[in-house]
Amino acid sequence: MKAIHIDPDIRKAQTPPTDFYTSAEYFQTSKSAVFASSWQYVCDVNTLSAPQTVYPFEFLDSFLPEPLLMSTDQQGQTRCLSNVCTHRGKILVEQAGKSRQISCGYHGRCFRLDGSFKSMPCFEQVEDFPTEKDNLQTYSTDHFAGLQFCSLNPAFSFKEWIQPVQDRLGWLPLDQLKFVESASKDYEVQAHWALYCDNYLEGFHIPFVHPALNNAIEFDEYFYETFPFANLQVGIAKEGEPAFDLPRDSPDYGKRIYAYYFFMYPNIMLNFYPWGLSLNLVKPISKEKTRVEFKTYVFPEVALDPANHALDETELEDEAVVESVQKGLKGTAYTRGRYAPEMEINVHHFHRLLFDQINQNL
Ligand code: FES
Ligand SMILES: [Fe+2]
Repeated sequence: MKAIHIDPDIRKAQTPPTDFYTSAEYFQTSKSAVFASSWQYVCDVNTLSAPQTVYPFEFLDSFLPEPLLMSTDQQGQTRCLSNVCTHRGKILVEQAGKSRQISCGYHGRCFRLDGSFKSMPCFEQVEDFPTEKDNLQTYSTDHFAGLQFCSLNPAFSFKEWIQPVQDRLGWLPLDQLKFVESASKDYEVQAHWALYCDNYLEGFHIPFVHPALNNAIEFDEYFYETFPFANLQVGIAKEGEPAFDLPRDSPDYGKRIYAYYFFMYPNIMLNFYPWGLSLNLVKPISKEKTRVEFKTYVFPEVALDPANHALDETELEDEAVVESVQKGLKGTAYTRGRYAPEMEINVHHFHRLLFDQINQNL
């Protein structure tokens, strides 16, 4: 496996070589180099808001199946803990619910909701016990817009990651977003996870791939911004299309904004519309298969705009083109491409972040 250089000057840069998307080694390396140090969505904050709640989950499902547990203690403090017993490794909590402590169903070891060791039968004669190692490991966790996130070993702070969204859209009633299950859906895409992200990161393809979306936004006014660990695309509404009612202190005041598309490196999208949020989670399954979870949230007293149904149409159009690229990369003729300097800024930004992390782990 070789280091992959993405020139910082987009006019000189080449896109990643096909090897990155097709080789098992790069796919495997991305687990530790990219995802283990990333922030991932866990659940909605209100799932954890009652005192003495436990909520088991795996960090990134089958791709990075670290068994974890969210716990909220009597005082209402939420933590992210290991869900593996420090005796012989059994999973501690199998089901979400109320619990006064965390107890192991194998030999009865108990932990407090902060993860500290509490008791263990038949260990009276064990020397040098308990120690720090008998407590459950704790992990970083934080929340934004009613969404709880965690990280195994963050490469950057939650604040650094999320701040651009807060700065731009903090004026919206983000804490009042409500999940709408009937408008949420999972998709399985037969393509590498990064190809899915590459496609998301540019509006260049909109006139070619998304006729309905192209009728709703002004292609010539679409714009891009990059931040340390996130980037943004902004779509401008055509006359007659819904747009945000912006406050005077918004940097976009005076524009008719159709949508803010935030990409949260490496695999999360926060798409804000006047009606609410479409949260997209891109979860690798194999190097040729990805699950994309679309979760819909609406602002209070806003009827879900019929435009939300168009998200499904747009998604299927995107899937078709991404799956076609996956097939194209199996050939030998194509190895690397070039970037459109004004349209593929965010794709280039993503690749720079990605290979900074991957190259450091080779
Ligand atoms: S594995 Fe948990 S008490 Fe033995
Ligand atoms: Fe698209």
